[in-house]
Amino acid sequence: MKVAWVTGASSGIGEALTRQLATQGWCVIAQGRRKDRLEILAASYPDQIIPFVGDVRDEDACMKVPELAQERFGRLHAVIANAGISHRALVEEVSLQVLREVMEVNFWGAVHVIKAALPLIKVNQGWIVGISSIAGFRGLPARSGYSASKFALNGFLEALRTELYGSGVCVLTVAPGFTRSEIREKALTATGLPQAESPLPEHKLMSAEAVAERIYRAMLRRKKYLVLTRQGRLTVWLNRFLNGALDKFIYQHFVQEPGSPLKKI
Ligand SMILES: NC(=O)c1ccc[n+]([C@@H]2O[C@H](COP(=O)([O-])OP(=O)(O)OC[C@H]3O[C@@H](n4cnc5c(N)ncnc54)[C@H](OP(=O)(O)O)[C@@H]3O)[C@@H](O)[C@H]2O)c1
Repeated sequence: MKVAWVTGASSGIGEALTRQLATQGWCVIAQGRRKDRLEILAASYPDQIIPFVGDVRDEDACMKVPELAQERFGRLHAVIANAGISHRALVEEVSLQVLREVMEVNFWGAVHVIKAALPLIKVNQGWIVGISSIAGFRGLPARSGYSASKFALNGFLEALRTELYGSGVCVLTVAPGFTRSEIREKALTATGLPQAESPLPEHKLMSAEAVAERIYRAMLRRKKYLVLTRQGRLTVWLNRFLNGALDKFIYQHFVQEPGSPLKKI
């Protein structure tokens, strides 16, 4: 029986991945801040999922999870640093507080959980999975703080993977493309309020369940990178060769979003 710690398990990709792992017989410590959502999730696999209410920005709270894993299951094989938030506002308008908050959750939150889990993961030659984004390979307009946080996470994971060369630990960087979830309705505006409505047709996006299945398969194959959706893979690939020339196309894509802050420029 394998044991995982999934952050951001109360909705979207994290919830789907927790269910995917439980279906495959794994035990999961499912972390998030919304207790009610975690309890509903845990109730569907009462012997396998333990809810853990905690903010990934809280280093001390994160340090408790490996102890909990040891206590309840005697081991920890995988950590999936998935908790994340987004924002949508231009650099010249966004408050520094919003940029700091995005960095605190997406980068420092991931660092807290990965550092806390690392000793146990090494013992078991397990998995460290970081949920990044296409925005971690190509900066996206009106998502400067989000892009920066995911670029930082990619660099951290690449360095860690190299440090762990030969250790048997798999470090997997996942870049989902646009995925149906709550992330866009909760994305922060320039002042830090949630934008409340997604500007995208969520029903047409890749489902969180399909993303979770792909992540699980990539874990089993011990892959280093997983870049999802055709649009996402194309963006990463083109950016490698045509960096500056892509600005126009990406601008034109994002300016068409309903309520795009780019329309004001
Ligand atoms: N959906 C996409 O299109 C997309 C694309 C690329 C990458 N991603 C990445 O995928 C990951 C999951 O996002 P999602 O799309 O599934 O969004 P989501 O449905 O909004 O889920 C985000 C999760 O993160 C948790 N979270 C947020 N802040 C937290 C904090 N301070 N401490 C602990 N947990 C926190 C939320 O739970 P609580 O509110 O209960 O704390 C929630 O469970 C993120 O890292 C995101 O950047 C998503």
